[in-house]
Amino acid sequence: MKNFQDDKQRDLSINKSDGTNKVLTTNQGIQINDDNNTLKAGERGPSLLEDFIFREKMTHFDHERIPERVVHARGSGAHGFFEVTNPIPELTKAGFLQEKGQITPVFTRFSTVAGSRGSTDLARDVRGFAVKFYTQEGVYDLVGNNIPVFFIQDANKFPDLVHAVKPEQDNEMPQAASAHDTFWDFISLMPESMHMIMWTMSDRAIPRSYRMMEGFGVHTFRLVNAQEESVFVKFHWKPKLGTHAVAWDEAQKISGKNPDFHREDLWEAIEMGNFPEWELGIQIIPAEDEEKYEFDLLDPTKIVPEESVPVTIIGRMVLNKNPDNFFSETEQIAFHPGHVVPGIDFSNDPLLQGRLFSYTDTQLTRLGGPNFHEIPINRSIAPVHNNQRDGFMRQEINKGRVNYHPNSLGGGCPYQQQIANGGFSSFNERIEAHKVRERSESFADHFGQAKLFFNSQTPEEKSHIVKALRFELGKVKTTAIRVRMLGLLSQVDTELAEKVALGLGATVPPILEKPINKGVSPETEEAGTQEPRT
Ligand code: HEM
Repeated sequence: MKNFQDDKQRDLSINKSDGTNKVLTTNQGIQINDDNNTLKAGERGPSLLEDFIFREKMTHFDHERIPERVVHARGSGAHGFFEVTNPIPELTKAGFLQEKGQITPVFTRFSTVAGSRGSTDLARDVRGFAVKFYTQEGVYDLVGNNIPVFFIQDANKFPDLVHAVKPEQDNEMPQAASAHDTFWDFISLMPESMHMIMWTMSDRAIPRSYRMMEGFGVHTFRLVNAQEESVFVKFHWKPKLGTHAVAWDEAQKISGKNPDFHREDLWEAIEMGNFPEWELGIQIIPAEDEEKYEFDLLDPTKIVPEESVPVTIIGRMVLNKNPDNFFSETEQIAFHPGHVVPGIDFSNDPLLQGRLFSYTDTQLTRLGGPNFHEIPINRSIAPVHNNQRDGFMRQEINKGRVNYHPNSLGGGCPYQQQIANGGFSSFNERIEAHKVRERSESFADHFGQAKLFFNSQTPEEKSHIVKALRFELGKVKTTAIRVRMLGLLSQVDTELAEKVALGLGATVPPILEKPINKGVSPETEEAGTQEPRT
């Protein structure tokens, strides 16, 4: 039985230090006699520039902050392990999924999306659910959310979505909640977001605890087996404690009293030995079923209904150790959906494809240059060797004169042999296409699954969605935005739209003969037809 649970902790231990009862020194190791007073000319005299002890302390302090994540800035994380309960060698050659009982160390970070690093945990928002698996074949990151779909279908819209949801640029308000004109302006012109809006206005967006949230990979991914055969999969995390939420009124009160509510809950549970646990499941879609559904498997605004493809549980994750240092671990961790191991591959989902560019790019700024893979929490426990050199904050001391390939002087890089031994090779998918920017017609239905989700809710849950929309749209100052939103809601469910309209003192515009399917700008004729009925 392979149990690598402690490998990452052993790896981290070489960087750990404990200052208890240690003599105070400068960064150069010089013992400090007085850490309270600066060096001065006389007891009341001016401070002296030569005081290197003061200068070093202050300089370090002055540079203690790094940029927060551009999204998901607010988060909490913990160490743990992943155990295979149902191996799937027939589906994937991924080494960490081969044997029952096999254990892989993980670090998991939960987050809100829109708020800044110091914002409240209980905002109405999507929650990030990112898991780093330190496998023997390298790092695998499953960078998901607690909601199985997303707002947009194409990565090109992500900067717009985030600009719209973040605090408004003139006054930096609101800091965490989504209730403001710019967000709803964007959404009202982006009908593809309607399925996600139903989820974010539901109780799912105000979880009771990180321990009581589901997680989803959102995109369709591929698994590839040793015979180079592939299936499509959707990833699901299912919490042992079940899925629970708080009511919006409770969320607002908790936010006022304890903005660290989720952070504290996760920390305390782990300290007390109540280790949170999730099952990992997959929906398996055979390659030949790629075009069998009325929606497109590559469309991240759609789920694959569990009634048609049930979730097969393959393992469990337990979080059992809090970080020693929030900054070094939770803040400096760098997740990336492009961190995959042999046997796990991407689909052509245009949102996923764009994400594959964005994460390293942002981390180059956030973590100060190209060597952030050397930061202890990011370091692979599989050996790392390549010809990358230099750059800010390089830690590794590469010996020898050879940093290129091919070479005849340094022992080479036997990648032919590596491929034979199972190195990463992309799935050999056949692509025959024209370069275009148009979206496929198979991405066109924006309301079908939004309706299904709304109808799947109990009357109580439906009333929460109505109240959430009244609250959110009630804070929108621009009438045209509210009206456009009512128009979109009426395409999900007329009763829903009527009830929200009643709360707003507004009128639902006529149902369009031809529902809006594409992102529209208010100047277009289609958007014009959204004017209220008088
Ligand atoms: C974080 C980009 C969609 C889940 C981030 C970060 C960026 C980013 C730049 C900050 C990373 C860092 O500073 O380390 C994007 C882009 C997207 C996209 C461009 C779409 C084109 C998604 C989707 C999901 C997701 C669909 C869920 C499936 C996350 C999570 C984090 C994150 C969980 C926080 C990771 C952590 O805890 O450090 N994203 N994202 N993102 N993203 Fe995305």
